Amino acid sequence: MRAQSNPLLLKWYNAFMRLSNRALSPLVQHASDVHLPLRGECRAGQVYLVGAGSGDAELLTLKAARLLRQADAVVYDRLVGDDVLALIPHRSERYYVGKARGHHSVPQAEIGELMVKLAREGKSVVRLKGGDPSVFARMGEELDALAAAQIPAAIVPGITAASAAAASMGIPLTDRGHAQQLRFVTAQLCREDGTPDWTSLARKDETLVFYMGLSKVSAICQGLRQAGLPDEWPIMLVANASQPEQQSLVASLASMPEKLAAHPLPSPCLIVVGSVVQRVATTPVALASEFISPQEITP
Ligand SMILES: C[S@@+](CC[C@H](N)C(=O)[O-])C[C@H]1O[C@@H](n2cnc3c(N)ncnc32)[C@H](O)[C@@H]1O
Repeated sequence: MRAQSNPLLLKWYNAFMRLSNRALSPLVQHASDVHLPLRGECRAGQVYLVGAGSGDAELLTLKAARLLRQADAVVYDRLVGDDVLALIPHRSERYYVGKARGHHSVPQAEIGELMVKLAREGKSVVRLKGGDPSVFARMGEELDALAAAQIPAAIVPGITAASAAAASMGIPLTDRGHAQQLRFVTAQLCREDGTPDWTSLARKDETLVFYMGLSKVSAICQGLRQAGLPDEWPIMLVANASQPEQQSLVASLASMPEKLAAHPLPSPCLIVVGSVVQRVATTPVALASEFISPQEITP
């Protein structure tokens, strides 16, 4: 008050405020002040197959976040994180089509019918899937169902579990000193004779990432060893990658089954096999504000 009644004091007061605001502004700017390049619509009668990423809402793409805010209806799976679901406005319709505890998932045909029905009602629909919709997520069947009903579809990629796990464990999936190739493999037996082709998988110049394999760790270790990979070949398990409750185990093909039995991990869990896993021991990385400490590889 006194400053406002004295012109000289007022001048000094304003100069001081300008300087201190300028000095402090980088510290007080919040993420919500940042202008994000969000543009585009979410069209009525169209279905968007959207990747929800690995669970950390900040790993969602800007496009996915925008569509979630705009859509009339969201059809979502079990592996979509709560923070991501919190972005859906109350006015929007929500349909959970994942597996309930002790129950089967909603059959794929019913999910297709639901999306078609919602789109035909003139709603804009987001079909939200964990990770990337094109990686072990039945996107092909859903695209077919929409095409058969002549419903326009669009795909929005997401961070797949392999990328999230590699980032949070501080390893490159294809370090050029270790791996010339990277293979995403479903641990669910999908070949006609029901057995993975272990000989083709047992390569030393490759990183293997097994999805849906927590209950098959012993079979994977045994299959790869019998096909020629050494007993001490590195393997890593990462459960709930990129989330606060992330847990991991690093061991060798020979020791992992026993190690997992002694320290069971929850689902969802990803399995990485390859010499890049050796780098976990040497690279402490920061994930968001947390430091993840290096781990010992115990063969
Ligand atoms: C049906 S697949 C879906 C994959 C998903 N579309 C993706 O791109 O990550 C489910 C499997 O993905 C893996 N997974 C998904 N999210 C994960 C996470 N946050 N941490 C570890 N593994 C994850 C697990 O192997 C799980 O069994």
